[in-house]
Amino acid sequence: MKFSLSTILPLAMALSSASAQGTVAAYTDPKTSITFQAYTDPTGYTFGIALPTTPGADFVGLLVGKAKGWAGVSLGGSMVNKLLIAAWPSGTKIISSFRETPATRSPPEATGPGYTITPIDAGTYTNATHWSLTFLCKGCILTDGTTFASNASTDVLGWAFATAAPATPANHASTLPKHGSQGNYGISFAAARTAKYATYAALANGTTIPTMFRA
Ligand code: HEM
Ligand SMILES: *[C@@H]1O[C@H](CO)[C@@H](O)[C@H](O)[C@H]1NC(C)=O
Ligand SMILES: *[C@@H]1O[C@H](CO)[C@@H](O)[C@H](O)[C@H]1NC(C)=O
Ligand SMILES: *[C@@H]1O[C@H](CO)[C@@H](O)[C@H](O)[C@H]1NC(C)=O
Repeated sequence: MKFSLSTILPLAMALSSASAQGTVAAYTDPKTSITFQAYTDPTGYTFGIALPTTPGADFVGLLVGKAKGWAGVSLGGSMVNKLLIAAWPSGTKIISSFRETPATRSPPEATGPGYTITPIDAGTYTNATHWSLTFLCKGCILTDGTTFASNASTDVLGWAFATAAPATPANHASTLPKHGSQGNYGISFAAARTAKYATYAALANGTTIPTMFRA
């Protein structure tokens, strides 16, 4: 199916009527100098994505949340039967976890065909108010319908944000409390494509922060 942003945006707004609408725009992170196409919500949530000029299965991502709460992205738009990524702080570390669920309940960890997350250290931190995870997501764009398609120029993604912390923050498989706000938005993957992608991906040498990566 082919969508244009003009057809996606009203759909996304209808689906996310439960919460205030954020904005999608180019965002250059001052800590990494990576330019993302990013959804930012008034809650303090951000998800950003950068893609190569010819996308394959990988992207460089940014997830920002607040305090001790978790934040998540649905790479397929809906919560159910789509590949989800949730992240949260544990002390000064950031934990991340792939999730998938057939129903709207705390999603268990997903073990798919070898997707991994490697942090980009300069953009992965906690500060007094927020936490930030900048990462290389390898093997994350799938062909089974659980994510957007690598060749899509636009699609709908989902966001979820909780002020409550996971049950056991140090454990990447922790049960998550339900999000307090969530929704969908249309995003241009065409605008997320950049010739600088290889430079961005190379920042994920993932050695200083011994966090997460889930295959
Ligand atoms: C932890 C327990 C969770 C529960 C009980 C839960 C429950 C729900 C429910 C009932 C909805 C429908 C809207 C509403 O009535 O509020 C929903 C929507 C949504 N959830 Fe969750 N959720 C959970 C975790 C997650 C996680 C971890 C993610 C992503 C990482 C996520 C992503 C979404 C998204 C994107 C939507 C909006 C799109 C849609 O309705 O499918 N949820 N969730
Ligand atoms: C903390 O990090 C967030 C997310 O990057 C940023 O918006 C905020 O300005 C930072 N706060 C401080 C005090 O640096
Ligand atoms: C994307 O690739 C799929 C599978 O090869 C193809 O069916 C589809 O037409 C392509 N879509 C676009 C927008 O190029
Ligand atoms: C990883 O990359 C950062 C940023 O370029 C650099 O400061 C750090 O030394 C690198 N670490 C390793 C082990 O190469």
